Amino acid sequence: MAQSSERKQWEQLRHQARRALVDYYTAPAPGLDDAAYDALVAELARLERKHPAWSGWDSPGTRVAPPALQPFPTRRHATPMLSLANLYSVAELEDWEQSLLRLLPDRPPPAYVAELKVDGLAIALAYEDGRLVSAVTRGDGQTGEDVTPNAKTIPNLPHRLKTALRLEVRGEVYYTLTAFTELNAERERAGEPAFKNPRNAAAGTLRMLDSGAVGQRRLDLVVYGLAGAARKKTHSATLEWLGELGFPVSPERRRCKTLQDVAAYYGRWGKTRDTLDYHIDGVVVKVDDLALYDTLGMTAKSPRWAAALKFEAEQVTTRLRDVIWQVGRTGVLTPVADLEPVQLGGTTVSRATLHNLDQIERLGLKVGDAVYLVKGGEIIPKVIGVDTSARRGRERPIVPPAQCPSCKAPPLRREGEVDLTCVNPLCPAQQAERIRHFVSRRAMDIDSVGEKIIEELLSRGLIGSYADLYALTFDQVASLKKEGKVFAQKIVDAIDASKTRPLDRLLHGLGIPLVGERTARVLARHFKTLDVLREAAVEELENVNEIGSITAEAIHGFFRDRDQMALLQRALKLGVDPQPLEAGGGEAAALAGKTVVITGTLSEPRGVWKDRLERAGVTVTGSVSKKTDYLLAGESPGSKLDAAQEHGVRVVTEQEMTRLLGRN
Ligand code: IVH
Repeated sequence: MAQSSERKQWEQLRHQARRALVDYYTAPAPGLDDAAYDALVAELARLERKHPAWSGWDSPGTRVAPPALQPFPTRRHATPMLSLANLYSVAELEDWEQSLLRLLPDRPPPAYVAELKVDGLAIALAYEDGRLVSAVTRGDGQTGEDVTPNAKTIPNLPHRLKTALRLEVRGEVYYTLTAFTELNAERERAGEPAFKNPRNAAAGTLRMLDSGAVGQRRLDLVVYGLAGAARKKTHSATLEWLGELGFPVSPERRRCKTLQDVAAYYGRWGKTRDTLDYHIDGVVVKVDDLALYDTLGMTAKSPRWAAALKFEAEQVTTRLRDVIWQVGRTGVLTPVADLEPVQLGGTTVSRATLHNLDQIERLGLKVGDAVYLVKGGEIIPKVIGVDTSARRGRERPIVPPAQCPSCKAPPLRREGEVDLTCVNPLCPAQQAERIRHFVSRRAMDIDSVGEKIIEELLSRGLIGSYADLYALTFDQVASLKKEGKVFAQKIVDAIDASKTRPLDRLLHGLGIPLVGERTARVLARHFKTLDVLREAAVEELENVNEIGSITAEAIHGFFRDRDQMALLQRALKLGVDPQPLEAGGGEAAALAGKTVVITGTLSEPRGVWKDRLERAGVTVTGSVSKKTDYLLAGESPGSKLDAAQEHGVRVVTEQEMTRLLGRN
């Protein structure tokens, strides 16, 4: 083909690829599917390899490898970008404060800062010597996209600070409604599809390939916090200081001495949010005293020192058919709403959590009631209110159960506690839940031992605890009704392989009160071995970052509980040998710091592999470059395999990667 016609073709392809990227953010109907986009970019890349002078940093073709719709380099966040737990009412806000006070015994309720929850896009801005060095989107919280050239065009984003500091601030990039309306009007005039909402528009703009064009749009920034070590004593002082450094901080932020002040702020903005020139979807409440953050710590997903108080969510009405009392692994009986099935957020919902008896009382809920249902950030929907005007006179009060639904023992409501608890340690439902938790993916990850198998093993008396799993023989497993020999072998192998899981997984699996995934990791990192942890005094535990006195007591108590220790001892005797967190043995240690790309169909979900690799210190990225160390390739690997070969990247199978990780 003559060079001029190739040039024309290249220009056309480049235009199409850029359009596709923009369309991607202006759904409802994206213009190209991923496969078509891949083909387009591959052709573009071919032309650019032939004529290197044509490609520039902003050509989609220079990002040869898919995922095609990811043209920005990915960056790992030094401090993960977490999300906030969602609350939907003042009653839930009060519950939230109670949960904080339980972790802060003998202390008066703390002061708070209330802020608006701007509905935009989270961004992490890193400064060195007072100069902006990177702007990275939230991504999945661990890794985001580096959109620095685009972020630099945001008018109120400082490129230089008044002081030559090294710091990372977090904030939200958004469109004012004025700018958004103008943008869509322009797009309409140009025959382009309108953005659905300001949030999508902000996301689309930040990821535009042409920074010059980004600058013509008027994005805004508001910063709401600092990542890493604290520089001030309180959050309010931090915001004040960020303002002095030149960052845009919200003038609507308020220090609230009491939770009532936060509730009033929430109520006020709920009524007056229409007066703002930007969308907010709630308010954010944060504990002001930064010295408490360590003690309060985090759950796996969000910090305990802050929460989002949302204004509204998609809400539907349905009838409460009944209340089921579910027995958890600690014996707590949780009321679960059995609902007339209803569509909500794209799925059919027939169950929702009711939390506890207090919540039921607060809602004034009765069986047969018409209830309002929302889906929060979590998968399980919530009942947030009752339509008392729809009562028909046949509604029945909800009576707390007189017996545990599983073992029939009378449950207790301990002094000062809201929950009803079944205190029978031999309760079958609790046993099943504890084992289910132990084998779960985020704990010991014994995936072939499913719910049905646990139930059958329990009912046949083959196991009574997690420790008994390690004493199971092949013949015992093969004797289960449906399990064939091959499957039985798989189960036995999986149990065997779990013996050398990292210490944090075992600690999480044990179900130590107040020790979730995150605390388990903190403990494993700090104490390195089970023996050292077991011997730790309360004070030693308290001195660990993120561990407060109540959690410390709970951990200490667990390791002094005779029954628990008998189980643990049995498991250890049967070969359970938890590995120190960082090491992971020879080659796995060598994997730390490496970069891996995953492609093709794998035998386990990609998220499982990603999680596993990241725990070994690997950075998992979306596209192959010469910086990639390994391509983990499943079936039908597609163009990433070509890219790997082109860059001389080592391609490994799942089995090889498993070996590298030292899991076999
Ligand atoms: S604080 C640990 N403050 O809401 C998370 N977030 O799920 C700290 N947001 O991703 C976030 N306004 O993008 C915080 N004043 C505010 C906020 C805010 C909006 C966003 C943020 C975050 C999401 C929370």
